[in-house]
Amino acid sequence: MFTHTIRFKFIVFILAILLVLLVLLNTYPIVSSRDTVFQEKQSSMASQVTVVSSALASLDRLSEEGVSDVLRFLDLSGFDRIIVVNSAGTPVFDDGQTPINLEDVRTALEGKSVFRSVFAGGAFESSIAVPVGSRNAVIGAVSLYETDTERADIILSIQHRFAILSMLIGAAALILAVLFSWIVLRRLTRLAGSMHTVAGGDYTHRHEITGNDEISELGEEFNALTARLETNEDQRRRFVSDASHELKTPLASIRLLSDSILTTEQMDEGTMREFVSDIRTAADRLQRTTEKLLDLSRLDDGVRLIPEPVDLKQITLDALPGICVLARESKVTVNTQLDDGCVIMASADEMSRVVFNLAENAVKYNVPGGSVSITLSKDDENVRLTVADTGIGIPEEDRLNIFTRFYRVDKARSRASGGSGLGLSIVHDAVLAYGGSIDVGSNRPQGSVFVVSFPRPSSEDTGI
Ligand SMILES: Nc1ncnc2c1ncn2[C@@H]1O[C@H](COP(=O)(O)OP(=O)(O)O)[C@@H](O)[C@H]1O
Ligand SMILES: [Mg+2]
Repeated sequence: MFTHTIRFKFIVFILAILLVLLVLLNTYPIVSSRDTVFQEKQSSMASQVTVVSSALASLDRLSEEGVSDVLRFLDLSGFDRIIVVNSAGTPVFDDGQTPINLEDVRTALEGKSVFRSVFAGGAFESSIAVPVGSRNAVIGAVSLYETDTERADIILSIQHRFAILSMLIGAAALILAVLFSWIVLRRLTRLAGSMHTVAGGDYTHRHEITGNDEISELGEEFNALTARLETNEDQRRRFVSDASHELKTPLASIRLLSDSILTTEQMDEGTMREFVSDIRTAADRLQRTTEKLLDLSRLDDGVRLIPEPVDLKQITLDALPGICVLARESKVTVNTQLDDGCVIMASADEMSRVVFNLAENAVKYNVPGGSVSITLSKDDENVRLTVADTGIGIPEEDRLNIFTRFYRVDKARSRASGGSGLGLSIVHDAVLAYGGSIDVGSNRPQGSVFVVSFPRPSSEDTGI
């Protein structure tokens, strides 16, 4: 409904402000100039009536002849009606028909002055009544009446001009308000259109930014958000396709091998055992991959185990026997140099995985006769775990990617060794989850170095 739109509210708001302003513009100046005229009238009439009353006070008694004689010498042409009454209240002079309020004259006989002025019917009607004589001997009263259309005309014409001006201002403001709201709201509507497009699943869409104001900022933020969504969506898609590919391959070989066993009549036991052992290898791989996927999804969920003090030296010593078995098979030697007191706040399980994955890679991607060295050290701020090897190394251009899920530098070699490309992303996510950082570089003269560094917890945290 139109009344719910911002445009409607905006225009109503502008109109309300305008209305208040115009009402003020049309009343305040008129009221204040009217008041000025009243004051002016009061002082001019007061001084004139004083002249008349003091002239009349020279008489002992107010009689018709006496009063007319006195008034003849005064210039009273500006007044529409002059009334003089004697002490009994009987008019002794009255020269007009203008309707008047006799009440004021009676009040004046009691010794008080009365001034009145009204602005009505396009004229200022003013009257003043004062006593004649001294305070204790009032011999009568005089009252003057005046109708001023000249000033009234000026005020009316000002009022008229203000009215026309108000209409012009009102019309101009309304046009501007409509125009402004149209321009602003059209841009918002366009932005909403872009949001709609992106919400529909088109993450490649970018909002076209115009201008350089808050709405443009909104558009830029929206574009940044969309870009992040696009990246996430890409990663998700790649992850799903990589994961299904990873599961499909061993499943296909299990299927193929079991088909062969079923369809071959009288297979000799040797071949049969070989096939079954291949099935077992494929099943192992499936199991490893699904376990790692579960690890990763747990890391993704952010369900963190509550950090506890973990001694990395103990963790490494516990992992060593497993590593050494692999190392012996690959004819690789393992050296360690482990400092005491390398305690961090983390989860022991996840730290075992970090150490094992790094050491396993260092053995797996090594050469016969090569070596692996695992070092643990600490300084005032950090605890550092370094796993260096003399193996095949990682090409510079692959280093950024090796922490990505399913990424393998040499796909054939890695798969042959049972790798899924998930180990380093598990390491990476676990290290970051506990506030650490991980770096990879090359070892001299050959091989790779992985450096994991954690902030040292305060003794309050570890309780040591
Ligand atoms: N120490 C290393 N030396 C050489 N290449 C490595 C090393 N560690 C990891 N890589 C490369 O990084 C890839 C990703 O490692 P990882 O995530 O552990 O997966 P994988 O399951 O293949 O071991 C590996 O396939 C390998 O190509
Ligand atoms: Mg690995």
